[in-house]
Amino acid sequence: MTATSDAPAAESTKPAKPPTSVTVLPHPELCPVGVSFEARTGQKLVDALLANGVAIEHACEKVCACATCHVHIREGLAGLPAADEDEEDQLDDAWGLDAQSRLSCCVKLNGTRLVVELPKYSKNHARE
Ligand code: FES
Repeated sequence: MTATSDAPAAESTKPAKPPTSVTVLPHPELCPVGVSFEARTGQKLVDALLANGVAIEHACEKVCACATCHVHIREGLAGLPAADEDEEDQLDDAWGLDAQSRLSCCVKLNGTRLVVELPKYSKNHARE
């Protein structure tokens, strides 16, 4: 006798989440005229930025260990989960820290429209 499965196809019928709208304010080097794009919900903000031509630094390869991917979330911050302890610890080293600071490798897009400002400088220990 041959075993067969009557289980439905896993996960393939889940409806796709709507994309997340992201606006990046102008930055003299990384994004001179600013940019707006739709990104996949669930994607890390840093990956969405890189995929849309914003060459933000990510010295630790996006594992919350360097703070070079620091951004300011100028709109939409309240719609994001709060930073965890690891992110808060890394943010202490970020240049230009303020109350809207986040690490873009720690922010997962969740459908909340975001307006992002890139800090003028980043803290890159590899360059010091
Ligand atoms: S890339 Fe290093 S903390 Fe985000």
